[in-house]
Amino acid sequence: MHTLLFPTTLIVFITLLFVQSTIAVKQQQQHLSPTYRTPKNILFACTIGGSSHANWVLAILNDLNQRGHNATFATRDDHARFGIRYGINTISVGPATIPKDNTTYNDNAHLDPHSVMGTLIGHVVDAYPSEYIAFRDLIETRQIDLVICDHFVDSCIEAAKFHGKPFVITSTLAIAPDARASFISSGISLYGVHNNQISLFERIYHNYLFTGTFLWKNFATLMKVGQTKTDLGLVSSPDTMASWKDAMKLVNTAFGLENARALGPLVEFIGPILPLHYQPITSTTYETFLDNHSRTIYVAFGQNANPSLLDRSLLWSSLLSLLEDEVINGVVWADAHITAMEKEMTFTTIQHTTYSLAQINDHPNVLLTSWSPQMAILQHPSTVAFLTHGGAGSLHESLYAGVPMAVFPFVGDQLGLARNIEEQGLGVYLRRDVTINTTATLIRDLVKGDKSLEIQNNVQRYSALIQIHSQHGVQRGADLIEEVLFAGVSHRLEASRSMSIIKVYNLDIYFIFSLLAFGGLLAIYSLLLQIHHLIVGPKSQQQNLTGDYVHKPKGQ
Ligand SMILES: *[C@@H]1O[C@H](CO)[C@@H](O)[C@H](O)[C@H]1NC(C)=O
Ligand SMILES: *[C@@H]1O[C@H](CO)[C@@H](O)[C@H](O)[C@H]1NC(C)=O
Ligand SMILES: *[C@@H]1O[C@H](CO)[C@@H](O)[C@H](O)[C@H]1NC(C)=O
Ligand SMILES: *[C@@H]1O[C@H](CO)[C@@H](O)[C@H](O)[C@H]1NC(C)=O
Repeated sequence: MHTLLFPTTLIVFITLLFVQSTIAVKQQQQHLSPTYRTPKNILFACTIGGSSHANWVLAILNDLNQRGHNATFATRDDHARFGIRYGINTISVGPATIPKDNTTYNDNAHLDPHSVMGTLIGHVVDAYPSEYIAFRDLIETRQIDLVICDHFVDSCIEAAKFHGKPFVITSTLAIAPDARASFISSGISLYGVHNNQISLFERIYHNYLFTGTFLWKNFATLMKVGQTKTDLGLVSSPDTMASWKDAMKLVNTAFGLENARALGPLVEFIGPILPLHYQPITSTTYETFLDNHSRTIYVAFGQNANPSLLDRSLLWSSLLSLLEDEVINGVVWADAHITAMEKEMTFTTIQHTTYSLAQINDHPNVLLTSWSPQMAILQHPSTVAFLTHGGAGSLHESLYAGVPMAVFPFVGDQLGLARNIEEQGLGVYLRRDVTINTTATLIRDLVKGDKSLEIQNNVQRYSALIQIHSQHGVQRGADLIEEVLFAGVSHRLEASRSMSIIKVYNLDIYFIFSLLAFGGLLAIYSLLLQIHHLIVGPKSQQQNLTGDYVHKPKGQ
């Protein structure tokens, strides 16, 4: 029996060994692959705000399409080109929210920020009902599974809520209530600046008075917003972000661009996402100019901002002064808004030379154009500084390319961003109500001397930061959209929400601790009392014997 059993055991043993080793080999070869994914229909609504609102989300949609989903971009005529550029199925729900011939933005150099915002809200509310109906229809006919809403497009959020669809909110600033901090200004007039950077008066003004005056000046418009929503059968609440509470918020920023603070679990900083492809310098005009002007300042104010005559006078006079002093040897100014009146202007430098715009145009060290390949110019080694309006997209590009900035802000978040750029030593903040000499001195500091070296160091550090974060921002955004699609958001709701206030703040534990402490104190007290009786007790009896207490019983 023994002899027979032995080979059998051996065979079993060898077989087991073999099977195990093949399993091991197989395990080495197998890759984990996700099984959660089924094709979904996604709708992104962005109808206002321009490329900085649309482009980075469209890049995420593109990634989602490559994962097998079907994304649609719902927008308006003036924004449709962004969707087409990213190859996304694009649908226009109407003409531009802000009529093209309206000069609200194009004249905004010295506009009262209250009226800029008021006008904007006025246009948005006019478009609200038709947009709301269009989004509701799209969600139904396209069998949309998830809706992505730009933070300006409340009608999109309401349409998603109507159909009970999950929605994600996108923004460039961390404005959601669960992304705010008490020590960082959330007032749009000085957005993102922390309390050490501003005076007590500014804190009161920008966080309270500004909002108060805004409400007062735009009361009629805001009432119209409420009425419009009520007419559509929607709940109109003064807390305009109430419905953001349970939604994932994707923000196209990173710490460093925003002051650091704790974020709620539904807020994700996934940016800055930059277009990974940019237009190269195709025209030899730029190439030759930059190759020949090794210290060039690049000037551009985005698609909307338009410097006033006074602004142009201040900036041109300062730049021409610096050219005369040979602090810089080139200026590229991309200006889409030059009007007949500006063509009549003259500019006088600190050195008292006067130039007409025609002379500037002919100046060998000046390149005045209506459009420019911005990223390519920023990447060119001859570009030593960027004079910008401080729009988030421009700041991202400048930092990516490692170019220090002179920020000349116009409206909205640009003012706060300019303050932060100055504070973080990434550039200078050019105020508009100063002398030519002051402006020229600030720009000189930016490109020459000790301060410029310090700024250059900071900009290099930020360049790394921006490049690191922009590499995988698109994939991260797409991952988070898939998380909402396939896992929901219930796991991201703060756990405290399902608890009583007693458990949230551990009040029960403190109560027990207090009881124990009280009990302990009581125990110590009674112990001391007993000791007292043991030691002092006999003494007092002795005292009695002395007769000192003879009167005491009488007094009782
Ligand atoms: C432009 O906007 C202003 C302010 O809202 C308004 O009064 C004006 O009628 C608008 N112009 C056009 C052409 O829409
Ligand atoms: C995406 O959805 C649209 C509208 O429902 C449809 O016309 C289109 O064929 C879909 N595309 C793909 C690739 O499934
Ligand atoms: C500009 O540079 C080109 C070569 O890059 C050179 O041929 C040309 O002479 C330069 N022009 C000026 C005005 O310096
Ligand atoms: C410009 O400012 C500098 C220093 O701020 C000063 O030395 C210089 O005299 C000023 N020049 C003029 C023309 O005001």
